Amino acid sequence: MTDFSPKLVDRFGRVVNYLRVSITDRCDFRCVYCMAENMTFLPRKQILSLEEIHWICQAFVELGVGKIRITGGEPLVRSGALDLLRQIGAISGLDELVMTTNASKLATLAHDIRAAGVKRINISLDTLDPAKFKALTRTGDLENVLKGINTARDAGFERIKLNAVILKNRNHDEVCDLVHFAVDRGIDISFIEEMPLGVIDSHDRGDVHYPSRLIKHDIERRFPLQALAESSGGPSVYYRIAGTHSRVGFISPHSANFCASCNRVRLTAEGRLLLCLGNEHAVDLKAVVRQHPGDRARLQAAIIAAMAVKPERHTFDIHEKPVIFRHMNATGG
Ligand code: GTP
Ligand code: 5AD
Ligand code: SF4
Repeated sequence: MTDFSPKLVDRFGRVVNYLRVSITDRCDFRCVYCMAENMTFLPRKQILSLEEIHWICQAFVELGVGKIRITGGEPLVRSGALDLLRQIGAISGLDELVMTTNASKLATLAHDIRAAGVKRINISLDTLDPAKFKALTRTGDLENVLKGINTARDAGFERIKLNAVILKNRNHDEVCDLVHFAVDRGIDISFIEEMPLGVIDSHDRGDVHYPSRLIKHDIERRFPLQALAESSGGPSVYYRIAGTHSRVGFISPHSANFCASCNRVRLTAEGRLLLCLGNEHAVDLKAVVRQHPGDRARLQAAIIAAMAVKPERHTFDIHEKPVIFRHMNATGG
């Protein structure tokens, strides 16, 4: 008889069925909430090869993971990213391959990414003002990103979602304009509270904290929101903007903890299986695949064993110095 019981279950009874994979820690942007201005990136031999990533993804799918999100850094700056997407997209048993990107390369790659089997795509966009965009990303070009978003709309993704990290006095006054932008294009948008991941040099995270409650309040002055029960399995709490095709999500790691329903783990570019974004509990899968190449049973045993160290929840304090020294680019946004 086939055994359909979930294979990846942690100590708190949470079933893990979602893997987020950072395929590179590198990025062509330097967003102020994500990175310090001068970052040292991992040397090539320290990061997983594309073959190792594919091998690990296959092992996870056999263990019941139905959704894989490819992230970075910026996943599309890694050469061979498109081939990897095709290979992961072809893994039998995988329900959904999705991706998070900064859109800098979508103007040329969006159609190929869709053809590779990526169903949905999340795009970071924090501002519609070119000067602010430059200030927030340090190196990004808004016009190119907007072109990328347009091309993605033509490429036939099942859903496009924008992610905006809102910082007080940097972009909090643009919340309604961003919602308007999403509504005009029939796409979704999530607003994210900044998390204290890694040491940054541009601002004090406590000073710029702008809670979801205020964002929602700002939006409701212009757009009627209807609560939705549906969830994509992510930490977003979603609302429909009445009379439109768009949904607004709020990701509130500070003001509304969502850890009780956590269904995900993360594979870092370096091959560490990270069991929680806000904790350091991890298992070194790179060591397993390099010491025992081709040994799927051993890899799967390591993944199953890792479930025992998944922490119950994150506890972030933006008014204290970060206790997590890893930046989001090393983790997979
Ligand atoms: P869907 O799969 O479409 O629901 O997307 P998602 O919201 O899970 O993924 P996305 O890449 O859009 O994530 C948006 C942001 O949510 C990330 O960049 C993180 O800031 C935050 N986030 C996602 N997962 C977690 C999590 O497990 N813990 C915490 N604290 N934040 C998370
Ligand atoms: N806090 C919250 N979100 C962050 N991201 C990067 N750094 C942080 C942070 N410190 C998110 C951005 C981007 C995704 C890749 O990671 O929203 O959409
Ligand atoms: Fe790059 Fe995304 Fe980090 Fe911005 S948030 S620097 S786009 S990885």
